Amino acid sequence: MIPLSVPNLAGNEWQYVKECLDTSWVSSVGSFVNRMEEMSASFSGVTGAVATSNGTAALHISLILAGVQAGDLVILPNITFVAPANAITYMGARPLLMDVYEDTWELDVDLLEQFLIEECACNNGVCYHKLSGKRIPVIIPVHVLGNMVNMEKLMPLAAKYHIAVIEDATESLGSTYKDKPAGSFGLFGCLSYNGNKIITTGGGGMILTDNDKLAKEAKHLTTQAKADPLEYYHDKVGYNYRMVNILAAMGVAQMEQLPGFIQRKKEIASLYNLGLKDIPGFKGQETTEHVTSNCWLYTAVFGQSKQLMEYLAARDIQTRPFWVPMNRLPAFDADIYYNKTDIAGNIYSTCLSLPCSTNITDDEVAAVIENIHQFYA
Ligand SMILES: Cc1ncc(COP(=O)(O)O)c(C=O)c1O
Repeated sequence: MIPLSVPNLAGNEWQYVKECLDTSWVSSVGSFVNRMEEMSASFSGVTGAVATSNGTAALHISLILAGVQAGDLVILPNITFVAPANAITYMGARPLLMDVYEDTWELDVDLLEQFLIEECACNNGVCYHKLSGKRIPVIIPVHVLGNMVNMEKLMPLAAKYHIAVIEDATESLGSTYKDKPAGSFGLFGCLSYNGNKIITTGGGGMILTDNDKLAKEAKHLTTQAKADPLEYYHDKVGYNYRMVNILAAMGVAQMEQLPGFIQRKKEIASLYNLGLKDIPGFKGQETTEHVTSNCWLYTAVFGQSKQLMEYLAARDIQTRPFWVPMNRLPAFDADIYYNKTDIAGNIYSTCLSLPCSTNITDDEVAAVIENIHQFYA
């Protein structure tokens, strides 16, 4: 069986986790959580990092601190894993779905500009959707599959319309736009260390920010908003969202290997691009100009992608279809979807993700390529 994307635990994971077990520092306080935060802030080029129980929790806390209120709209690309749409909904807000570019599969920033010009207005430093009268305080650009949104165009546009940016950088740890790391552009950047990500803590996430006050507040909210070191006095509704030390221990070991993992992901993508280029109908994800992608999850357009998936599964090769676009899910199908030709729908129905764990061998990649050629022969 060649799996899609599995953890690569080849470093100091056992040693660091054992250290937690030997010393009983297994829960939400411990030196590995602090180290994980320091390493993440330094790697992503921000001043503050707050470790969370998962990436969805990181998004939830960021939305709270960006001032989202019940009844608001939050702009989100229609192509995304469902987590940010769910986090928006936890707030009593709704996603406002925006179509993506045909080649890069990232939020269409030109379409966004048209939307803001034609359908929105600012009043007293707040952006409103004219038709519904609802506020639009936040946009979540999702950096899909390790590629990135055109941040050079997005950031001034968001600033002009007084919209705070929360980057969903959960898939793009190690990617850069003009050498600036994913997650370091917005008011907040959110990371995930879920099992299939480029590094993993089993489950975990991180809030990145350059705003020290907000970083402090994020830590407060993720630790039940306990305001007194001794007394159980909580000054607001808090959350039990802190990453635990035993998982952070794994994370520190994974961070040590991250540059090597990124290098391997890039090699795997090159092998697939070369080996598949002659397949009729094949088309890889194009990288946004000025972006260096971490090549997290190799995904491409294939003719008859569903049949190809079944063919490969029968040969013990695990692949995955792309996410069903948000506007086709029952929880979000009544939300506003701004698009011209539903590019997201087309991408969904033609894309397939291929095995690309960092510990996949070149021979296994060659076997996947060979089987794909056989399917089309
Ligand atoms: C785009 C995107 N956003 C958010 C998440 C949520 O992260 P987590 O699973 O750590 O909650 C994920 C991954 O799982 C993701 O791929």
